[in-house]
Amino acid sequence: MSKTIIVSNRLPVKITEKDGEYVLNPSEGGLATGLGSIYRQGYNIWIGWPGIDVSEEAQPQIREQLKALNLLPVYLTQEEINNYYEGFSNEILWPVFHYMSVYARYEQVYWDFYYQVNSKFRDIVLQVAEPGDIIWIHDYQLLLLPGMIRSEAPDVAIGYFQHIPFPSYELFRLIPWRCELLEGMLGADLLGFHTFDDSHHFLNAVTRLLPVNASANVVMVNDRAVIAETFPMGIDNEKFEQLSDDPEVKRQMESLKESFQHTHMVLSIDRLDYSKGIIQRLQAFELFLQLYPEYVEKVILYMIVVPSRDTVPQYKELRDAIDMLAGGINARFRTINWHPINYFYRSFPVEVLAALYNFADVGLVTPMRDGMNLVSKEYVASRKNNDGVLILSEMAGASKELIDALIVNPNNIGAIARALHEALNMPEKEQQRRMKQMRQVVAKFNIAHWVKLFMDRLQEVKQYQQSML
Ligand code: UDP
Ligand code: G6P
Repeated sequence: MSKTIIVSNRLPVKITEKDGEYVLNPSEGGLATGLGSIYRQGYNIWIGWPGIDVSEEAQPQIREQLKALNLLPVYLTQEEINNYYEGFSNEILWPVFHYMSVYARYEQVYWDFYYQVNSKFRDIVLQVAEPGDIIWIHDYQLLLLPGMIRSEAPDVAIGYFQHIPFPSYELFRLIPWRCELLEGMLGADLLGFHTFDDSHHFLNAVTRLLPVNASANVVMVNDRAVIAETFPMGIDNEKFEQLSDDPEVKRQMESLKESFQHTHMVLSIDRLDYSKGIIQRLQAFELFLQLYPEYVEKVILYMIVVPSRDTVPQYKELRDAIDMLAGGINARFRTINWHPINYFYRSFPVEVLAALYNFADVGLVTPMRDGMNLVSKEYVASRKNNDGVLILSEMAGASKELIDALIVNPNNIGAIARALHEALNMPEKEQQRRMKQMRQVVAKFNIAHWVKLFMDRLQEVKQYQQSML
């Protein structure tokens, strides 16, 4: 029986250490939550890092625990974590791909470890891959892996999907190892991106940097046709619809109702990341309170910031900046019975997120750059009554699909403040019209649709390659 082998840097469960014990928890981030709903089908298996340096004695036992969940761990040493994950992946690729190239540090040692860890993943994939299997590699931490597997197993079917933007050539060309990265990616048969611009930027970089023939979205690599295409990722919309009937979610909603009876709620949920525009969002909320003082005591910004990559310097600095700004706004505007921002620096179980999605009058999602942004789709999917307003950055991939949101430029603080005012005053009828449209999009192009589209296309590409022989 053939299987799909999903490979990503991070597994959908992460291990944390508590009182000397290892504990399994769900991972945060769109890749893990999005694919988390589908990988358990059939004989599928997911290979990835469990998120912590596990001691050698504990490794076999954790391997067994994960096996029961169809997961296979790739253990990384602290040195590999520092140089491959924090270094190359998150101090070079992440900032450059999100148009923040000033944050990039092009260290040779980061590259050496990136190469080494991608080889480590290759060895583990090849240990479990059997003829007829499909290998589906995810995201920027593993750009060399398709090429490394292809060299060892020339006929295998390899798909690659990138969950973050692919930047314009002018950004991508800054990376000293740009050609090696593209060659690695071209080991795949099908490359998927969230938006047309991402696939276009990728193809542009390939044709300008490599001596290959390409026409439209087909690149010829040693007589093998490689296709790059757009597959906007969806979510498990039914899960979010059904969660509103879950007893725990109902209990959470009751408690929100009690606390915020006479207050409008604006909801913001992100990992702590400079790509998410959290500082500008806070500035916009501050300006909103200044411009529209009638909302003092009438509105609350409920802001969840999930800890992420906190050993990378820019992330640490951002945390301090958010703390200061949120504290400053609360101090400036608070009254005896009210403060404008409820700020949490932690993650929450999905039941709490679902209660908030159901309860909040406005979803405020304003990243500076985002591959897709699943939070915006989760908010929409949860609005079973078709009310509520989504404010969405034009720099998020999701803005290409959720066109009935109030679309804003995240750098335009004034526009976000005005959009907040518009959202809080939007007539019920208009809310319904917009939300209904968006809910249809989220329901139709859901995660199951996305997986099927990608997998079917990969099969077609393999057939097309065969027909060219
Ligand atoms: N999320 C979570 N726990 C939290 C807050 C958020 O699991 O406490 C999830 C959220 O439901 C969403 C994902 O994290 O599915 C974030 O995905 P998104 O695409 O919005 O951004 P990313 O973090 O991938 O950049
Ligand atoms: C984004 C990336 C994922 C990543 C996630 C969480 O969604 O596309 O590849 O897993 O962020 O980041 P982390 O570094 O904690 O895995």
